[in-house]
Amino acid sequence: MPSASHFEIPFNKPYLSGMEVEYMRLGVSHGHISGNGRYTKLCQNFFEERWGIKKCLFTTSCTDALEMCALLLRIEPGDEVIVPSYTFVSSALAFARQGAKIVFADSRKDHPGIDESSIEALVSPKTKAIVVVHYAGIACEMDVVMDIAQRHKLYVVEDAAQAIDSYYKDRPLGSIGHLACFSFHETKNIQCGEGGMLAINDPSFIERAEVVWEKGTNRAQLFRGEVNKYQWMDTGSSFLASDMLAAFLWAQLENLQDIQNRRKEIWDWYEQNIKSLLPEFEFDLPKIPEYASNNAHMFYLVCKTPAERDRLIAYLKSNGIHAIFHYLSLHRSAYYKERYPIPSLPNSEAFEERLVRLPIFYQLNLANLEKHIRGTAASNSRSTRSAS
Ligand SMILES: Cc1ncc(COP(=O)(O)O)c(C=O)c1O
Repeated sequence: MPSASHFEIPFNKPYLSGMEVEYMRLGVSHGHISGNGRYTKLCQNFFEERWGIKKCLFTTSCTDALEMCALLLRIEPGDEVIVPSYTFVSSALAFARQGAKIVFADSRKDHPGIDESSIEALVSPKTKAIVVVHYAGIACEMDVVMDIAQRHKLYVVEDAAQAIDSYYKDRPLGSIGHLACFSFHETKNIQCGEGGMLAINDPSFIERAEVVWEKGTNRAQLFRGEVNKYQWMDTGSSFLASDMLAAFLWAQLENLQDIQNRRKEIWDWYEQNIKSLLPEFEFDLPKIPEYASNNAHMFYLVCKTPAERDRLIAYLKSNGIHAIFHYLSLHRSAYYKERYPIPSLPNSEAFEERLVRLPIFYQLNLANLEKHIRGTAASNSRSTRSAS
């Protein structure tokens, strides 16, 4: 298989505003390169103010933010955590690492997000939390999830890795669960290579979260002048990221609207044109529930059969386009199979076998993309094919 760089239309190209290196240079000249500096505060404040989140903490990844959630919820062996199977490993791993049993939920039939109607049957006296994943930046049915959580006294963690600037009934994703996590991995709408944000909506977690974030110490209080020395207070790790990464991220956040607008243009173009451009293939377009907004994080198709998906990926590849499938259902993973009986989660399995993601990134040239989809792009395409 050719590497991603061999494709004339790669799956992703990280967006750059042009100010990233300048802000990193300024950060160096200010003399604060480690975590919790000027740019970290700018980024955290941006999230808190724009999306009404009580407290945000910038982390080295969304995975780290999820691990902080597991520590904050005091997850321990004997606990159960409900997680959708169709997700990235970290949504489950962060809690499994603390000893929890992961109880996998199915996707909705019409969308890869968690099937809210399946959750309540999975709740047991051992359940401590529900993790929802806003797949492709499309909201889960949060009123139903929060209601189940409230009735059973459970915590809700939103894995909003892909869900920046997206909404559930006009409420920003990441501001609804007790805790939430964003990713700034280079594949995300807003990126700094690797990075994440813990969003805290239940204020009872704020004080401890700052300690967990800073290697189990109250150094954040020292920075604010609230104490004159800092010390070991609790469990934790080095979850905070260097201010250099925050400086990079700030150069992206400043351009959020422009980035989102461009991604939506591309998404809309796909929605309007992809069926007629690929008449030989049978697939469904993504469905966005009426309660959800679209942040254009991802454009995917759901093919009629796994074989149809393979044929489509091969066709696009032969035209120089890198289209890729997505998650392998976690309930069928090697890790889980060794430890637990495998549940039957047909919708998750169907998305695993039939979903394909198409390139979407700021710099994508739609006229060029169209030529490649039609197979009428110039000879470059042929040389790519022979090189692969
Ligand atoms: C749903 C989901 N959760 C968690 C993560 C992990 O994010 P990170 O790479 O920032 O740790 C990802 C990464 O793509 C993701 O898609």
